[in-house]
Amino acid sequence: MKTFINVQDIGDLSKALDEAKEIKNDRFKYQSLGKNKTLMMIFFNNSLRTRLSTQKAAMNLGMNVIVLDVNAGAWKLETERGVIMDGDKSEHLLEAIPVMGCYCDLIGVRSFAGLSDREYDYAETVLNQFIKYSGKPVFAMETATVHPLQAFADLITIEEYKNKKRPKVVMSWAPHCRALPQAVPNSFAQWMNAADVDFVITHPEGYELDPKFSGNAKIEYDQKKALDGADFIYAKNWSCPGFSNPAEYGKIICKDMNWTIDTKHMEWTNNAYFMHCLPVRRGLIVTDDVIESKQSLVIPEAANREISASVVIKRMLESL
Ligand code: CP
Repeated sequence: MKTFINVQDIGDLSKALDEAKEIKNDRFKYQSLGKNKTLMMIFFNNSLRTRLSTQKAAMNLGMNVIVLDVNAGAWKLETERGVIMDGDKSEHLLEAIPVMGCYCDLIGVRSFAGLSDREYDYAETVLNQFIKYSGKPVFAMETATVHPLQAFADLITIEEYKNKKRPKVVMSWAPHCRALPQAVPNSFAQWMNAADVDFVITHPEGYELDPKFSGNAKIEYDQKKALDGADFIYAKNWSCPGFSNPAEYGKIICKDMNWTIDTKHMEWTNNAYFMHCLPVRRGLIVTDDVIESKQSLVIPEAANREISASVVIKRMLESL
């Protein structure tokens, strides 16, 4: 595997899930695979889970790890071609990337959407420059439009907790005080569409995701109807993807607190499990009693980030 961005990159999902199970049973089974190999993790944005779980996964596989926080100690990087670099950016990404590639065998990139220009964000300019110019396998650690390590961990978690062959999984938009990217819901939709689940997305009108990700998922604007009989609720905020009105791209167009997942919402379900990728804002996305309930899977979900990263890094090491 030379890139890990979309669900197609992982191939057969049941094989990937079997591999996840194998690694979870023996995290150090492939410790010799990464000997004398180096993972470079490059962060243009903050992280807790991705940073720790991916580093842990690489160490389980015997790798050395270098972490670069671009905004904390590195030269400020220019990402656009054709500009006169007379501002505060001292180095161009087009030199920095091949230099970084000299020091490692695999690269993980975190680079969020700017949320002001949909075309630019959805072109995945930063990620694609790493793929093109680093000369190394590259995986997304949440980029402008995708977060596949999270979606894979979410799928592993659903597999572990489901009590029927084809559970009903509902991704519900929930309110937030800041405009957030669409990367997590995009990837979750893409992975659920590929998995053996009955997948429904519910959100206020205007929050329709890119059809490239939402695919054939059922869209239900009535949250109560959507949650009826749900086995899993995947709560997430995202800003307006701007498909109905491009001027609204990246904006907050709904603040309706009726969408916050509370005990009343949980009662509409089939005793559903509650999921969220974290970090989560309590009181906006979910109430304290729901996230602290026995139905909450937020911690096992985060723990499975180590497993999803292990499978991905292992596959990439095998392809070197
Ligand atoms: N869920 C997730 O990716 O968390 P971090 O932003 O803390 O890495």
